[in-house]
Amino acid sequence: MNLQEVTQWYDFSDKTIVITGGTGVLGGEMACALVGCGAKVAVLDRNPNLPEELKKPMDAGPGKYLVAYADVLERALLESAAEKILSEYGRADILINCAGGNHPDANTSPDNSFFDLPPDALKFVFELNLLGTILPSQVFGKQMADQGEGVILNMSSMTAFKPLTRVVGYAAAKAGVSNFTQWLAVHMAQNFDPQIRVNALAPGFFIGKQNRGLLLNEDGSLTPRGQTIIDHTPMGRFGKPEELLGTVLWLLSPASSFVTGIVVPVDGGFSAFSGV
Ligand SMILES: NC(=O)c1ccc[n+]([C@@H]2O[C@H](COP(=O)([O-])OP(=O)(O)OC[C@H]3O[C@@H](n4cnc5c(N)ncnc54)[C@H](O)[C@@H]3O)[C@@H](O)[C@H]2O)c1
Repeated sequence: MNLQEVTQWYDFSDKTIVITGGTGVLGGEMACALVGCGAKVAVLDRNPNLPEELKKPMDAGPGKYLVAYADVLERALLESAAEKILSEYGRADILINCAGGNHPDANTSPDNSFFDLPPDALKFVFELNLLGTILPSQVFGKQMADQGEGVILNMSSMTAFKPLTRVVGYAAAKAGVSNFTQWLAVHMAQNFDPQIRVNALAPGFFIGKQNRGLLLNEDGSLTPRGQTIIDHTPMGRFGKPEELLGTVLWLLSPASSFVTGIVVPVDGGFSAFSGV
């Protein structure tokens, strides 16, 4: 092994990386970091406006970026986004499936009994997280199959390992994402090329749009649920979005060339702790 190569593993200057949900909290952090590593990043989101706090660091390069509007649940829109990305950057090497989230009506609560959970809310959460991971993987995975190489990184969750109370729909959907990650890793390696790898991250608790109201009160203090989570996180705090980046870079790069079909917790020890 040539040590010179090791130092170049995180140089993404010859890579095009598509990030669904790329204007969100975690996807945005990844987009900035990857532009910083020289990549050509396609931010694919149903929100066509790149927030100012992302625009500034991404404009600074050294990589490039474009914003492609698409809903991850609309195959036709994904195909047009893929065409735009191909015509601009020539190929798609890496897909990060970051679009996802929960819906308050898909959680049980004193006012929302499990027995009365509205099917539409459950359907929304299953579709956004699971179908919204599968459809982009079909569109961009096909390109990877044609190229004979590629990397897909999905976003699972702690609740996929052991379901958290209340979030019934989200837990089932993310368990589906972990299962699909393993399935697609095997399918791509056996039927197309072992150089197409598929893995997932399982973030612990990072404050995002979807969970802010569950974890923090309006004055920034912890809700009872936020406190329970901190009490079960040996490192005693929520994660910062940038703390996902080391694992993201590892899973996207040749540093993980023999790693496929895994779900990596980045959780301050939450999944290791029995609570006792
Ligand atoms: N924040 C956390 O603590 C945490 C923990 C575990 C897993 N996750 C997962 O990580 C991913 C990113 O989370 P986040 O906190 O950055 O969420 P976020 O809400 O900040 O970002 C989600 C992004 O997805 C986009 N999006 C939503 N629906 C879409 C659709 N149909 N088509 C295209 N884009 C769509 C939104 O516009 C938004 O930009 C999600 O899959 C989430 O479930 C987050």
